[in-house]
Amino acid sequence: MKNVRAMALAGALCTAMSFATPVSAADPEAGKLKAQTCLGCHGVAHYVNTYPTYHVPRLAGQHEQYLVAALKAYKEKQRSHATMHANASSLSDEDIADIAAYLASAK
Ligand code: HEC
Repeated sequence: MKNVRAMALAGALCTAMSFATPVSAADPEAGKLKAQTCLGCHGVAHYVNTYPTYHVPRLAGQHEQYLVAALKAYKEKQRSHATMHANASSLSDEDIADIAAYLASAK
């Protein structure tokens, strides 16, 4: 009887895992933590950096794929902006996916 249960459990776990991976590997919860440094400039509340005051693009609610593309472009210097290159260059593809997932879901 115990074996049958173990088999059923293993089967259920396999099914759960095979469903979880292909859809999206991005983890918005992890992205929330990783995005903390970004929010100093991309202050989600007012979209303006506090000091010195200059406009910073709004990221919250932005399209996930757009954010991924923008960050990869900064990282690979296809987009030139010293500040964002510095910020994006240390991010892994996983970090970028997580951060984009978080920002896209943030209101
Ligand atoms: C020191 C301030 C600063 C920090 C920190 C910062 N950014 Fe930026 N970010 C900017 C500015 C300024 C721009 C506009 C750059 C330009 O004109 O290309 C920008 C642009 C962007 C864009 C493009 C937006 C668009 O509409 O095209 C994305 C995406 C982005 N930042 C994501 C991030 C992420 C993610 C982080 C954290 C890893 C981060 N930024 C950290 C200042 C900052």
